[in-house]
Amino acid sequence: MARVAYANGIYGPVSAPLIPVEDRGYQFSDGVYEVCLAIDGALWDAAGHFARWRRSLSELSITPPMSEPAMRAVIREVLRRNRLKSALVYMQATRGVASREHVFPAFASPSFVVTVKPFDLKAADKKAAAGIALRSTPDLRWARVDIKSIGLLPNVLAKDAARDAGAGEAVLHDDGLVSEGGSTNIWMLDAGGVLSTPPTDGRILSGITRRTVMDCATELDIKVAERSFTLDEAKAAKEMFVTSATSQVTPAVQLDETVIADGVPGPIALGLRRAYIDRCRREAVAP
Ligand code: PDD
Repeated sequence: MARVAYANGIYGPVSAPLIPVEDRGYQFSDGVYEVCLAIDGALWDAAGHFARWRRSLSELSITPPMSEPAMRAVIREVLRRNRLKSALVYMQATRGVASREHVFPAFASPSFVVTVKPFDLKAADKKAAAGIALRSTPDLRWARVDIKSIGLLPNVLAKDAARDAGAGEAVLHDDGLVSEGGSTNIWMLDAGGVLSTPPTDGRILSGITRRTVMDCATELDIKVAERSFTLDEAKAAKEMFVTSATSQVTPAVQLDETVIADGVPGPIALGLRRAYIDRCRREAVAP
């Protein structure tokens, strides 16, 4: 069955030309996006993802293309038309269509797109049980990575290089200081049992999963510090893991040439994965 997308009022095949060539997302990456999980027909961490969506739009002065209830109705319909209950939901808004000129157009209404991709939580569990390798690469991004903008070329390059090196995720760093993953937030457990993840100081995207995992850690009496750390510190860590809507909590067992701990996912990472999934299932809401 051809996958169905929503674009500006139309439900059509993803392969169809649903967006005009002069859309500013296509020409300038002038837009924002969100990704969240739908599992068994309900959205995980929905409030956080919708709040960040609104913030990203506001930071770029893009008019919200529709209200949240209307967006939810579109998501529901895209899931239904694709006969999917568990999926990665992708939503994107751009400033709209206008004759190409850098400055904001006087008249343009935002373009809004929703696509979904099947998601198998059991397969994700399996990947987490094995753990992934990480590969470090310099963080080449702009100074507003707190906005979930669709301008992702440095992330694409970093993740592709990681894949070529046999790793599952890139670790971005500035002179050895870790910022975040190519599409995840990065965590390490130090020798003293403190869990660290870099602060939301403008050098990372404020992950929705990161926030929820922080709450889970507090509930489990695990000490969390929002602090920056270096690649060398991470290589000496007892455990490492990454978080994102797509990976939930996924342990990392290698960073560049260094095997983390004994090369097997640690109990804290796996415990937090369980706690995160349980909490999201409990709090999931219909779109
Ligand atoms: N990526 N950092 C970056 C650079 C990201 O792109 C993402 C999410 C995260 C984690 O955010 P969250 O926990 O809210 O998913 C951190 C999405 C999943 C993506 O680009 O597909």
